[in-house]
Amino acid sequence: MKIGCIGAGHIGGTLARHFSGLGHEVVISNSRGPRTLSGLVADIGNGVRAGTAEEAAAFGDVVVVSVPYGRYRELPAGPLGGKVVIDTCNYYPQRDGHDAELDDGTTTSSEKIQAFTGARLVKAFNAIYAANLRERGLPRGNPERLAIPVSGDDGEAKSLVCGLVDAIGFDPVDAGGLAEGGRKHEPGSRVYTAELPAGELNTLLDTGS
Ligand SMILES: NC(=O)c1ccc[n+]([C@@H]2O[C@H](COP(=O)([O-])OP(=O)(O)OC[C@H]3O[C@@H](n4cnc5c(N)ncnc54)[C@H](OP(=O)(O)O)[C@@H]3O)[C@@H](O)[C@H]2O)c1
Repeated sequence: MKIGCIGAGHIGGTLARHFSGLGHEVVISNSRGPRTLSGLVADIGNGVRAGTAEEAAAFGDVVVVSVPYGRYRELPAGPLGGKVVIDTCNYYPQRDGHDAELDDGTTTSSEKIQAFTGARLVKAFNAIYAANLRERGLPRGNPERLAIPVSGDDGEAKSLVCGLVDAIGFDPVDAGGLAEGGRKHEPGSRVYTAELPAGELNTLLDTGS
């Protein structure tokens, strides 16, 4: 599969490493330009290439968006339209500035990114610490395997992303649609960075955020 990454930091860089290690073709990008990614490209290997955010968006059948939420209006909406986008972003007002619609609960960060880009957006990998995402993947069936909540409104896109979650060593747990499911694994929710196996994660998701 062709995978673009917009954002090559703790989470975007880790996912690029995992996905390229599985044999996927990966193009990474950041805000400062491809030249600033030469060290990371060399470190990851696996044929990973660097491009602009527009190039990563156009390249990917799946595009990871892993930037500070406050930067989402800089995303290349045109090439992201209709694509399967994995949104790892969280809203932290102290970092991102205040967003009134998120502060009053009118909507969620993922719905806003979906509306801005027109993508088939799936929220995933937002509720696990980067170090755990990097190091704690395990084979299916291992009782210690951690679960990752996944939410989205497009069933086909969500299935595809669940397959990627599983392939890198985590149990995907369907948290529902973006409006409700997304809220259940946002910062401040009970499952956020709780780093739990699937059974316990499901119980917490079912009993409310
Ligand atoms: N760190 C965690 O443990 C963790 C866990 C789960 C979710 N998250 C969430 O995931 C997102 C990324 O977190 P992170 O920790 O990976 O952040 P990070 O290490 O600070 O990396 C952010 C990346 O986004 C890039 N970026 C910023 N604006 C951009 C733009 N307009 N176009 C393209 N790239 C842009 C940055 O590039 P430049 O450096 O060139 O600006 C950088 O590569 C955040 O929303 C965060 O809240 C983080």
